[in-house]
Amino acid sequence: MKPTYLSLKPLIRWHEVEHPVQWSRFFPNASRLHVEIGFGLGDFLIKQAQEHPDWGIIGLEMAWISIRRTLRKIALAGVTNVRLVQIDARQAFQRLFADQSVTSIDSLFPCPWPKMRHLKHRLFSRDFLQSVNSRLVPGGAVRIVTDHKDYFEWMCEQAAQNGFILFSNKITPQFATKYERKWLDLGVDRFFELRLVKKEHISVPLKEDKALKTHRVAHFNHERLFPTGCRDDIVVDFKDYLFDPLRQKGMVRAVVLEGEFKQDFWVEIQKRENYWHIHPAKGCGIIPSAGIQRTLDLVKQAADQSIGFSR
Ligand SMILES: C[S@@+](CC[C@H](N)C(=O)[O-])C[C@H]1O[C@@H](n2cnc3c(N)ncnc32)[C@H](O)[C@@H]1O
Repeated sequence: MKPTYLSLKPLIRWHEVEHPVQWSRFFPNASRLHVEIGFGLGDFLIKQAQEHPDWGIIGLEMAWISIRRTLRKIALAGVTNVRLVQIDARQAFQRLFADQSVTSIDSLFPCPWPKMRHLKHRLFSRDFLQSVNSRLVPGGAVRIVTDHKDYFEWMCEQAAQNGFILFSNKITPQFATKYERKWLDLGVDRFFELRLVKKEHISVPLKEDKALKTHRVAHFNHERLFPTGCRDDIVVDFKDYLFDPLRQKGMVRAVVLEGEFKQDFWVEIQKRENYWHIHPAKGCGIIPSAGIQRTLDLVKQAADQSIGFSR
């Protein structure tokens, strides 16, 4: 059997808390907020928590398997000053951290995306570094360690003129993370370290939740609902459609992409009194955004058109 987490307490369900997060609620006595991006197996994150019990430490990861394993290690280590968020770091810095609130950030061996056509996936782009700058306190610092010379040089270019002083170094192994061990086993024992110290403030406004306008229609032909997606600044793909005649309820699954931000959720079309109400289904944990609004509008359009088909 796979080892499971022992407690979900350190996990923050970011869709369900207020934005930006009031981190002092989780770390009432912390002397600073420290963030590790892409903590992988979590060993370094936990080491930091043990060595700095006065820090509030936030680990950002996209992979659930890494989070699950790290939750278990947190419980076994008994550290209480760590919280984990399953999120793309780009979203985290756009939505979860107030301006000038984070003191330090680590990212060890971030994915280098070496192929030319994949460069757009690299995390430490100019745009991302601007959000990072905005959320750092004056003098706050980012430490990035990589084995990948190209990515290191690319990051130096992206960081230039972004309000940071850059320090670069060749360093020896010292973090004992999975990827550091992997490179050591392959005989690589020098890594590129980039330190960015905030010198000037760059203001990037927080992404705010959008006030959604839900819809209702008087008529709708459930056999003729054919919602069509869109592909412009927002991409909406409709994936599935179910209808339950007994409950008088339709469900449409949509995948929405806004830049790198992906949401996969269901839209409900439910008969209540004399109308069919169109809104995001409960329990999907969406972030109200322009893409969610576009999806609701497209489903409403399809519901209107479904009547045209039947007449
Ligand atoms: C190459 S691994 C390095 C893991 C760990 N730091 C180590 O040194 O072993 C990169 C990690 O970053 C995570 N990751 C990649 N892109 C991310 C993003 N945009 N936001 C948060 N985590 C990300 C991946 O899931 C993966 O666990």
